[in-house]
Amino acid sequence: MGTAFGDKIMNGKVALVTGGGSGINLAIAERFAEHGAKVALIGRTQEKLDAAAKGIEAKGGTAAGFSADVRDYEALASAIGSAREKFGEIDILVCGAAGNFPAPAIGMSANGFKAVVDIDLLGTFNTCRAAYEHLRKPGASIINISATQAFVPMAMQAHVCAAKAGVDMVTRTLALEWGAKGIRVNSIAPGAVDDTEGMKRLAPNEKARAFVTRMIPLGRFAEKGEIADLALFLCSDSARFITGTVMVCDGGQSLGSMFSEMLDMAGKQANA
Ligand code: COA
Repeated sequence: MGTAFGDKIMNGKVALVTGGGSGINLAIAERFAEHGAKVALIGRTQEKLDAAAKGIEAKGGTAAGFSADVRDYEALASAIGSAREKFGEIDILVCGAAGNFPAPAIGMSANGFKAVVDIDLLGTFNTCRAAYEHLRKPGASIINISATQAFVPMAMQAHVCAAKAGVDMVTRTLALEWGAKGIRVNSIAPGAVDDTEGMKRLAPNEKARAFVTRMIPLGRFAEKGEIADLALFLCSDSARFITGTVMVCDGGQSLGSMFSEMLDMAGKQANA
């Protein structure tokens, strides 16, 4: 994306990204930096954030890491405050920090369920709540990273399904409450995204990858950059009247999981 005159569309903007040290969130941070934003990365491990920020700066961007666990409100508020002090008022907030492990409900302790809900759902609320005073009003845009598990139940994912459904309701509620302040709030719900910690856990081998791929009408996993492109659009002026939505980016996977089998059967019948 760019303008007719070649200006960078995020020039002068400040973006803060939780979980920004790797994966989809780093790809989003890189995309914003590429388009001119200064990016603050928040995550648990300072060295990981420093390496990610260094990578962005090596490509000509501006970035810095501020370590905090999104489950620890005081530490998070302090990290967000430091980011604001360094870069200024926050235009874009991406709540992306997430945790996941595949386990059936009876193979999951209460603490295991809570760990994921705390990172994904409470962490999203904490980030929005702590950042509120630092957000540009009017003009700020918040993206909460959800998942298709928010509306398609998935075995081995009780914690994530519950947490991400909650995330989407936080998105809608904050869109209602903060709209009058000129703050937009939207969710992005990615499906299977290549080269991410999440998919390494959910589809750890070729057999599992092939199985998941057969459920995706577009026939492949997403690239991280495709989720970043959607985030860039949602935070751009082109999306200025969009708030409270959950934008699905899953190649059609959540439309119906048995489609390839149905096509196969139809093909067999046609040839019979
Ligand atoms: N199966 C069942 N339970 C598991 C598990 C698994 N594969 N992995 C962790 N747990 C349980 C632990 O046993 C523990 O419960 P217990 O205290 O009753 O034993 C609980 O989850 C918390 O684990 P712990 O390792 O102490 O939590 P943490 O806060 O350090 O880590 C996780 C949180 C578990 C989500 C961890 O996987 C993580 O940090 N993930 C971040 C990266 C990630 O998941 N990326 C993908 C995002 S989509």
